[in-house]
Amino acid sequence: MTFLVRGLLCCYGLLVVGVAAVWASHGAPPTVRPAILLVAFGTTIPEARGDLQAFEAQARQRFPGVEIRWAYTARMVREKMRSHGLEADSPTLALARLADDGFTHVVVQSLHVIPGEEFHGLMKIAASLEGLPKGLVRVQVGAPLLATTADVRRMAQTLAAQFCDRGHREALVFFGHGSSHGGDIFYAALQHALQEKSPWLLVTTVEGTPSLEETVAAITNLGASRARLIPLMAVAGDHARNDMAGEDPESLASQLQRHRIRPVPILAGLAGIPAIADIWLDHLAEAWAELGLP
Ligand code: CO
Repeated sequence: MTFLVRGLLCCYGLLVVGVAAVWASHGAPPTVRPAILLVAFGTTIPEARGDLQAFEAQARQRFPGVEIRWAYTARMVREKMRSHGLEADSPTLALARLADDGFTHVVVQSLHVIPGEEFHGLMKIAASLEGLPKGLVRVQVGAPLLATTADVRRMAQTLAAQFCDRGHREALVFFGHGSSHGGDIFYAALQHALQEKSPWLLVTTVEGTPSLEETVAAITNLGASRARLIPLMAVAGDHARNDMAGEDPESLASQLQRHRIRPVPILAGLAGIPAIADIWLDHLAEAWAELGLP
């Protein structure tokens, strides 16, 4: 949790310095204009955007009257959205635009699942745009979905409550992205917390640990006859539709079929599930509190 600690330590110092500088040069109280920037990888699949819209609606309920904007980290996604006439800024551009529009304090809340490479990249972007002359006074980044042991326990509890109406001999497999970054360990931690609830609850990842092959072996050992496949991602985008549910021989669905286990893919993202969106929004609220707004 170094980013929260760092935020806490430098928060008040920067705010006081920034406020004092504006006060001294103009002799008038400085204006504080807070905003929220939601950041997603983005998706080129229009149906999947509904989950992001549902998330935004929930954020607006929680922070009524606050300016809320989006940024997307994937260039390919931004280009495709723009070609459809939609606005699509990168995090850097969105933060610069907020500064240009007169906002002073911003919480950046990513819809990442783990603190991996993408999340740490976002931390760097936020830090580099904080404290520039006539720019943003404070930029605080909210934690990803799984950032503490408490998050992992809460997530396991929420997933079990949300999905655990499983039928006889049905495994529930939560399908994550995975990463070569150390933050990948949160997938194994979540699986551990889920396994304490039931051996039929598993986590798998496309690019990390546990791998698809390990998970297929585990499901086979359980003697499951079917497996419900649930994206452990903000949206059910490309990975969910292809690597999880697709017809490619390497997809999780195909691998299970070869072992005579019936895959039942659920094509919905975590951002559209209110109880899970609440975990992200609690992290947003923590970061908001650290802005030190008057
Ligand atoms: Co990917």
